Amino acid sequence: MKKSKFVITGGNSLRGEVRVGGAKNSVLKLMAASLLTPEECVIRNVPRITDVEIMVEVLRHLGAEVEWDGEALRIRSGDFSSREAPYQLVRRMRASIVVLGPLVARWGEASVAIPGGCNIGSRKIDMHLKGLAELGAEISSEHGYVRARAPRLKGAQIILDFPSVGATENLIMAAVGAEGRTVIENAAREPEIQDLVAFLRSMGAEIEGAGTAVIEVTGPSRLSGVEHEAIGDRIEAGTLAVAAAVTAGEVVVSGIDPAHLGLPLEKLRETGVEVEERQDGMMVRGDGGYEPVNLATLPYPGFPTDLQPQMMVLLSLASGTSVITENVFESRFMFVDELNRMGCDIDIEGHHAIVRGVGALSGAEVCAPDLRAGAALVLAGLTAEGETHLLDVHHVDRGYQRLEQKLSALGADIARAGVDDEFNGGPE
Ligand code: UD1
Repeated sequence: MKKSKFVITGGNSLRGEVRVGGAKNSVLKLMAASLLTPEECVIRNVPRITDVEIMVEVLRHLGAEVEWDGEALRIRSGDFSSREAPYQLVRRMRASIVVLGPLVARWGEASVAIPGGCNIGSRKIDMHLKGLAELGAEISSEHGYVRARAPRLKGAQIILDFPSVGATENLIMAAVGAEGRTVIENAAREPEIQDLVAFLRSMGAEIEGAGTAVIEVTGPSRLSGVEHEAIGDRIEAGTLAVAAAVTAGEVVVSGIDPAHLGLPLEKLRETGVEVEERQDGMMVRGDGGYEPVNLATLPYPGFPTDLQPQMMVLLSLASGTSVITENVFESRFMFVDELNRMGCDIDIEGHHAIVRGVGALSGAEVCAPDLRAGAALVLAGLTAEGETHLLDVHHVDRGYQRLEQKLSALGADIARAGVDDEFNGGPE
């Protein structure tokens, strides 16, 4: 596989309509949930992105049969050849940890490689493990793997230290196989969790409270196969909305429930971007003159950390200084040096970014350090004067299906240079 880069010539206003794919952060968990039943599960609206391909590999490694059927995945987890998610897959995608809960629930044991460091901060799994222990699993760790064993999980009262998305999901899936009632307090409330619970309920699980901070699961239930359409990707939609704004364009983004983007759309309006919500998305129009705004990332319904880098590009164009506070991931400002190389004027003080508006950005050769920062650098390239060469776009491909094609269709001057074999087989 040859590495690819994006070559972007900034200055074109984006215009037209674009449809987002299914939510990455939902689909990965729906795939893990399919491990809970031997019957076939069909997940529709699945994006062809690297993270999904890695999860396909994880499920196949465990012995599941996984087939693509157009934009759907068919998964059948009859018997398992392994109860272990190996390091070579987990290190490529930390979210693989989410198979731990369903594996213990179904087979009474599982081991998953401990995810290593990552570019946006040390992401721990202590809450996942503490919760599983409270459900009666015996947790041990050796040789870089964490192992959970429980011949029978038992319902419990679990209070999370922080509304962790992954821990909430892992524990819901484990609790579905536990005997009796589990109450998860301080649970995460993200739309993707609501989608996972809808999926599990269609399978026959008894779960109440999704979308609130207290989720109750009564198990064990006999789970059957299910056919389910994943929700649209609110982060992809938000990225495209900011793309329209930074290029002073007018774009209709569809395939998404705008209610899932409540605060981001509000913040866009505060800067002066016009946003009109539609049933299946929104129209976003920008005129290029923006006001500074302050924002702080928080668990849902707070401002999503996954849209923080993109907003930083927009605020760099504002006529004044904005403060962005990052409360979810400790090192999520590492891309700021790259933005400053493109003419931004951003200082980091602890978990605050002081973003001083500059008139215009200038194209440069930059590197995508992670998925969302990569997306932000694409947006910076779209608005910058001259050419931007964005290296390491494999990070962007983890979560956006052919972003350059969606942007080109809206009038952007962006092309992928080099051949990336991994993507030659996917639907466009
Ligand atoms: C998920 C999303 C990611 C998003 C994040 C926050 C997926 C695949 N990824 O990640 O895109 O940015 O939610 O909205 O859905 N933490 C602990 N101990 C734990 C678990 C988490 O300390 O056991 C900390 C993390 O280090 C981080 C914070 O809690 O600082 C939030 O993490 P969490 O909500 O778990 O994020 P993920 O599920 O990993």
